[in-house]
Formats: sequence, C-alpha cells, structure tokens
Amino acid sequence: MPAIRVSKSDAEKIKKLLKKLNLYDGKRRPKRGEDFILLPILNPEKVKKLGFEIIDVNLPLRPERQIFKNLESVLKDKFSEEELQYLRRYDIIGDIAVIQIPPEIEHRQKDIIEALLTLHPFLKVIAKRGFHEGTFRIRRYEIIWGEKRLSTVHKENGVKIKVDLERVFFNPRMKGERYRLAQRVKDGEKILLLFAGVLPYALVIAKYKNVEITAVELNDEAVKLGLENIELNKNKLKGKIEVVQGDVFEVVPKLGYFDRIISPTPRGVDALNLALSKIKSGWLHYYDFVHEKDIQKFKNRILNECIKLGKDCEVFIKKVSDFKPHVFKVCADVGVK
Ligand SMILES: C[S@@+](CC[C@H](N)C(=O)[O-])C[C@H]1O[C@@H](n2cnc3c(N)ncnc32)[C@H](O)[C@@H]1O
Repeated sequence: MPAIRVSKSDAEKIKKLLKKLNLYDGKRRPKRGEDFILLPILNPEKVKKLGFEIIDVNLPLRPERQIFKNLESVLKDKFSEEELQYLRRYDIIGDIAVIQIPPEIEHRQKDIIEALLTLHPFLKVIAKRGFHEGTFRIRRYEIIWGEKRLSTVHKENGVKIKVDLERVFFNPRMKGERYRLAQRVKDGEKILLLFAGVLPYALVIAKYKNVEITAVELNDEAVKLGLENIELNKNKLKGKIEVVQGDVFEVVPKLGYFDRIISPTPRGVDALNLALSKIKSGWLHYYDFVHEKDIQKFKNRILNECIKLGKDCEVFIKKVSDFKPHVFKVCADVGVK
C-alpha cells in the first residue's frame, strides 16, 4: 500500500495537509518507528508531485469499533453494567440494522431499537440475526421493527450492492478486506473469484482496476442479484465481470489459469488444492477459519499443498476478524513464484 515516511516532528503538519488535499488514506493506521512515521496515502502520483518519496508498505486497516461504542454510550445511563456487557456489535446494511440480542437483554429490546433509531434515523428495518446455515450460508432473521423486508441496497467502497438477506450471504464487515485486495490488484490481471455471492469483492476490485474477473457462485438467487449489481454499477466499473453459475468444484477444473484467485471459502469447505492448481504464477487470497493455536499448522498445510503441486510459494497469514473466542477468520496471501 502506498505510504510516505516523514519525521515525527513534521507528521502532524503533513497529515493535515494531505487530509486537506484528500490524499490521506484515513481507512489505514499510520505506523510509528523510532524517529519517523509512515503515513498511508491515496493517489501516489499526486503525492509524488508534492515532493514526497512513495514507499510500498502494509499498513493495517482501522478497526470499526466506533459504531458499537456509540450504541453503548446512548444506552449507558439506562442499562446496568451487567446489561451493557451483553450488548453486541451490530451491522448497518443499506437501510437495515442487524443486531444480535442475547437472551440476557431480550427484555431491553425496545430500548435497543430506540437507541439504534437515534443513532441512525434513516433506518427502515431492524432485524435480529441468527447464524449462517446451509451450503448458501444464509442467516435466519427476525424483523423486530419497521418494514417487513430484508432486501436493500448497501453502499460500500464506492459501489452499490443489492442484497436480500433472506436469500443470499452478505457480510458488510469485509469492506476493509475488499478494499485491501482492490489495492493489491494491478490493471490487466485475470482474476478468478470463487464463492462469489452477490459479487461484493468483484465489484469493488472492478471499480478500482481494469481487470477481467470470472466469478463462480452456486446459489442462483445470488447470481441474479450479482448480475443486477453489475448493471447497477456499470458506469463506475473499470473492469469486466463474468458470472458463472455452478459448483466451483465442477466449473473451475474446466477453466484456464489466472493471475490472482480469491477464495472467500465457506466454513468447512476445502478449496485450497483447486485454487492453487489454477495459478502458474501470481497470488491466491484464501480465507478460512482458524484457531489461533493452529495458525502455523494452517500455513504449513498451504506450503505442503504447494509442494505437492510442484509450486514455489510464500505464505503470509493475516487475521481478518474475530469469529468466536480464539478463532479467527484469516486470509492467507499466497504468492506463487
Ligand atoms: C461465505 S459466502 C461468500 C460470498 C461472497 N464472496 C461474499 O463475500 O459476500 C460463500 C458463498 O459460496 C457459495 N457456495 C457455497 N458452496 C459453493 C460451491 N460449491 N460452488 C460455488 N459457490 C458455492 C454460497 O452460496 C455463498 O454465496
């Protein structure tokens, strides 16, 4: 990711200037060294013209904790300390708020609804969420306030994503990941997206980069919405997206090779060998759910798979989000040489 190295004493002044010129990447955290700070930037060409040397460095995304902190602060005078501990982070998807309400605070549902409406007056639906189920990874929801619908248009990273939460998988918390990948992709790449859903990864990447994306998805409701989403964003997309409906394990073996493969793998599915076998040289971004004590094991599994396929790989594991205590959703960035 593009950044500049500035002295600690100049950092504040330069950050202010970059912000004023819309050249500061506020989605990332700066990194502090002994006597310098690395500042994340947007638009390297413009920043270079200001006389800075651009460097390429991995700066982490800011955690989106603020949204939860706000709910806590609206409720802190009404709720006991104990009740506050049961409050969970919620998601805003378009004009729908989705929240988990544990049984311990179910009797405070009315207050939670009021607080959400105070914080987000534009909401039209508030729903309680259950867990992901089945091959298509769809959650169960219970609408607890507002219109009786679970379809909406969500805006993220400059694209519009139509979703129907009753019929398809969608996770707004992967916004930062999608942005991270879009920054890594280079114009001209041929990309394969496995388990594509309603195309959030494909849309964000195609918005930023002139690439050719093949997206494979089994759920025909997701495919339909994905095609609508391409149409919805057609004036903004630099890249092309082709959608193939089918099972990745049947479709992908018949396809050629790709420069980059992205696999937002559903939990319990193993598509590692399949994905690696379709890269001669390039990158695989492979998502999985791993206990923190098994991260090295996961890395070794990927390296062994590379050896089996006769590929020389380097593997970088990144924790993407919490899944349950000590278990993380991780992304393995696998460089195939
Ligand atoms: C974890 S979701 C990810 C969806 C999308 N990439 C996103 O981030 O919103 C997994 C997706 O894979 C699809 N899926 C599950 N098994 C599949 C298979 N064998 N072939 C193709 N798609 C599959 C599901 O329907 C679901 O949309």
